[in-house]
Amino acid sequence: MIIRKPDFDLAQATVVWSRVPEFALYWNGASAVIPYVEFYLNNVMSEVRKAKGAGDPALDAELAIFIAQERNHAHYHVAYNKRLYDAGFGALKGLIETITAELKVLRDKRSLAFNVAYCAGFENAATFTSRYLIEQCDADFAGADPAGSNLFLWHVAEEFEHRSVCHEAFNAVSGRYFTRIAGVAYAFWHINHSFDRAAKTILDVRRAGMTEAERKASRKVVAAIKRRQAWHTFPRVLSLLNPWFDPASIRPTPKIEAALAFFARAEVPQESFTDAYASRSLLGA
Ligand SMILES: [Fe+2]
Ligand SMILES: [Fe+2]
Repeated sequence: MIIRKPDFDLAQATVVWSRVPEFALYWNGASAVIPYVEFYLNNVMSEVRKAKGAGDPALDAELAIFIAQERNHAHYHVAYNKRLYDAGFGALKGLIETITAELKVLRDKRSLAFNVAYCAGFENAATFTSRYLIEQCDADFAGADPAGSNLFLWHVAEEFEHRSVCHEAFNAVSGRYFTRIAGVAYAFWHINHSFDRAAKTILDVRRAGMTEAERKASRKVVAAIKRRQAWHTFPRVLSLLNPWFDPASIRPTPKIEAALAFFARAEVPQESFTDAYASRSLLGA
């Protein structure tokens, strides 16, 4: 794991960065929520470092990089979210306060083990999302504006890279199977519910100026996007029930490795990673 700080021009990023507007708007909803989950993750993992770091230097070192990566993700998404608020999606602010309050209740009322299991569940979901966005969504990222699209592709590539850190932190803190399953199940429900609420807020604003026929068409596109992701995720979620589940055994694909190398480069990306990868593949490089 390394810390990457790709140079995206987020101040100029477009809100509808995909040729499929609903795809961009759905993921913009996730962007609105993400920093507050990542602040929470880092808060929990900082406590794990304090409790277990001295006795497990390897885990401590991984957690330090994990926290730095998540801090960067949050920082970039906060910058991008300013674009969303400026573009007329300020209604997100009230929802973000609600979600932040839900995470605070989780942190204050539940055990450290349950909170670490929630973090592991979020990481499991992010690992599956990484495979989905990088491998299954080429048509949505083709020809996309580089800043917005690469924000998501860089983020999920690093999510794949640190896919086992919270799982290992959970094993250090508890390791109890039923606690992991309960935390993971709650995380999947809560994160999906949060992303959906944010996406609905954005899409409601977007659809306000549409005709009824356009609204219907937009709802159909979003339903297809969600169905496609559910088909990708569902069989993988079942693997989490295995008591010996080990996220490190999910190997990176060549395309995920290419994404991690692409975003480690110093220059400003002039195209989405998806386009860069496709053109190099066509050249046989
Ligand atoms: Fe992240
Ligand atoms: Fe993460």
